[in-house]
Amino acid sequence: MLGSPALYRQIEARLTELLGAADSLLLPTLTHIHASVIPVLASDGTIYVDARAHKTIWDGCVAARGHGATVVRSAHDDPEALERLLRRHPKTPRLVCMDGINSMTGNPPDLPAFLALAREHDALLYVDDAHGFGVVGERDREETSPYGRRGNGVVRHLGQSYDHVVLTGGFSKAYSSLLAFIACPPELKRLLKVTAPPYLYSGPSPVASLASVLVGLQVNEARGDDLRAVLWARTRRLLDHLDKLGAYTLNRSGFPIVEVPLADPDDLARAGRFLLDRGIYVTLAFYPGVPREEVGFRIQVTAANTDDQVSELLGALDRLADVVPLRQV
Ligand SMILES: Cc1ncc(COP(=O)(O)O)c(C=O)c1O
Repeated sequence: MLGSPALYRQIEARLTELLGAADSLLLPTLTHIHASVIPVLASDGTIYVDARAHKTIWDGCVAARGHGATVVRSAHDDPEALERLLRRHPKTPRLVCMDGINSMTGNPPDLPAFLALAREHDALLYVDDAHGFGVVGERDREETSPYGRRGNGVVRHLGQSYDHVVLTGGFSKAYSSLLAFIACPPELKRLLKVTAPPYLYSGPSPVASLASVLVGLQVNEARGDDLRAVLWARTRRLLDHLDKLGAYTLNRSGFPIVEVPLADPDDLARAGRFLLDRGIYVTLAFYPGVPREEVGFRIQVTAANTDDQVSELLGALDRLADVVPLRQV
């Protein structure tokens, strides 16, 4: 029915191989994907959505509700709570939505437990791994760091199969390109091509961006694991330093999203300004975007940061802690 750039097919083939999935479909962003794919998969059934799922997943659920789905909120990363909801709200089809590596905590979900439930209750587990893809991947003896190899995402990292899983992810983070994907069986891909509205009614990702994804895939193959080893080591330095400061962080995984809550939420703007004045940009997490006790800043170490820059960051955190108390463990 419609044309898409030739590069779509090349990227889909390489991506499908990288993920070890049955097939994959590209759309420009995860926001497009959640808004259009969640309503198709949920139809007039039930969506069980993790309380800490990303805002764009929630928006997709609101769209699905408009199409007749029932949306229920499940306590964050709590398989027992999900099981109770699956029994209480039996209407099919059933879709369980959550983040992979969570965008604020930096932690993975208890995927094995959620998958067992999804398979038992014939639900699809819909996972947004925007922050895992490109960073975490399959584990083996050759791995250069605990992040695993190849950056092929949270499902492979946790040693799970794609049975009853729809994995979504994006290239806007690790690959700095405007593109996102759905890993799914070929039948679902064919269905989505004609039922997910942006695939039919919105433009494709720009060709320049597709070209940068292809180069990104080459870089990933050639030296992705070396970059991930660097990323792991620099993130470790940061986490160990926070430990020394007695500062609390939500991060339990060692993955490179490190949220640092403040003792007093009202100090947030001052803390952000203090770090920015010292050349350090962090993402501010304000209430009500996060619970009041988690108001703080999110540090994202990247593989492009140098060791000297990390030292600068640690020094700035020491000075910050003297003027703006960090929440303590
Ligand atoms: C977990 C998660 N999902 C989705 C998105 C949105 O991604 P996109 O820019 O591809 O729409 C983000 C962006 O920050 C994110 O962190």
